Amino acid sequence: MPSELTSRTSELLELERTYCSFGDTVHYLEPPKVFVNCEGSYLYDEEGTPYLDLQMWYSAASFGYKNRRLNEALKRQLERLPQLACQYLHAEKVEVAARIAQYCEKRFGRKGRVHFNVGGSQAIEDSLKIVRNATGKNLMFAFMGGYHGRTLGASAITSSYRYRRRYGHFGDRAHFVFYPYCFRCLYEKKRESCGLYCHSQFEKVFDSEYYSFWDAKAQACEYGAFYIEAVQGTGGYVIPPPEYFVRLRRTCDRHGILIVDDEIQMGFYRTGKFWAVENLGIKPDIIVFGKALTNGLNPLSGLWAREDLITPEVFPPGSTHSTFSSNTLGTAVALEVLKMLEEDDYESLVNEKGAYFLAGLRELQSRHPGVIGHVDGLGLALRLEVCKEDGVTPDRELTDRIFAEGLKGNLWAGGRRYGLVLDVGGYYKNVFTLSPCFYITHQEIDLAIELLDQLFCRCRARRDS
Ligand SMILES: Cc1ncc(COP(=O)(O)O)c(C=O)c1O
Repeated sequence: MPSELTSRTSELLELERTYCSFGDTVHYLEPPKVFVNCEGSYLYDEEGTPYLDLQMWYSAASFGYKNRRLNEALKRQLERLPQLACQYLHAEKVEVAARIAQYCEKRFGRKGRVHFNVGGSQAIEDSLKIVRNATGKNLMFAFMGGYHGRTLGASAITSSYRYRRRYGHFGDRAHFVFYPYCFRCLYEKKRESCGLYCHSQFEKVFDSEYYSFWDAKAQACEYGAFYIEAVQGTGGYVIPPPEYFVRLRRTCDRHGILIVDDEIQMGFYRTGKFWAVENLGIKPDIIVFGKALTNGLNPLSGLWAREDLITPEVFPPGSTHSTFSSNTLGTAVALEVLKMLEEDDYESLVNEKGAYFLAGLRELQSRHPGVIGHVDGLGLALRLEVCKEDGVTPDRELTDRIFAEGLKGNLWAGGRRYGLVLDVGGYYKNVFTLSPCFYITHQEIDLAIELLDQLFCRCRARRDS
């Protein structure tokens, strides 16, 4: 049987090589891994080997593969109202919008409205329109290491030049500001004594019009908004010192700069709070979300914006539109997700699991001193930096080897064969960004640490030999 399946895989790969654009994806492994089933925290290959997934579709499937309750919500909508043009109304759209807006009002004391689209980048584009419409400005601040998507508008505020290089001049490319990435401080400061020097450097640019951002006489900034991720996702799950954002908010307020909080990867409790920004003690003006809202089922994205920015008198009907925005299947699942989040204490659940996992990672770090240069976590957004023995120099090669080895599916624990699914991120592509399923058990966390240890031992030994 397995040989038959393997020949099917070869056939698929050949067809892919011939007919698929490679522009819409990256295979981090060559040939790419084929999975045929999933359940809970696991993906399964053709031979039925379970792969413990520590990335859960970049945090889109936070509530577990084939989550029964969410799948049932999808099936019910499939039977009842699976299709409907957005110009008509269905209950779930309105209920999802109301719940998110009511949550934001309770949390931030601000009224606002919710606006839908399909993918994360599209919702980012919509937020750019809201900012431009409200401020008349098309220039934005964003962070180095920030990721906001790959449509044209989103690429302009995403730091990596690689995503823009081939596509001509980006006239409204963001001004990228150093993110408080304390483990690799650009200014080579130590957190204990830096006094948030990176923020002072940013603040300074408003001292004089000759620094190019601010006209003191007109009290006008050339930039409309600052795009932030409360915890950087693709940038390597970088967790900032909370005081930084309190200061940044003050700087933005003083200069009439809106804050757009991209929660596409960290929203819906990944960091132990409904919105990751709640960890930072600031109120954003716009929040953009996607991914986990539907647990990776029918896609749905959107944004919440302050009432004065999005009221229909200011941002009129049809300002943005996509055929599939607020689709009935996505909104049905989203509503079920929001009900789940209201019924249970996800803050405690995620923080407890996160603390247990982080303790395991710290223990693992003590077994591989230097090579695991840094571990950190907020809720179930966890990071592990792979370094040379000096504990600082990024070791991309070892990172890639561990990543590839995990996908071979030939690790053993408790007499059973396993694989491990990891995701690599970070400025130097040497960070394992871990976003496990919220329902991962302590036993599975122990298994994750055990499998990571095996991978480090195996891949380090091969490097040394
Ligand atoms: C923080 C953040 N913003 C925006 C996006 C883009 O979302 P999408 O891939 O759904 O377009 C992502 C995707 O990874 C993300 O992590």
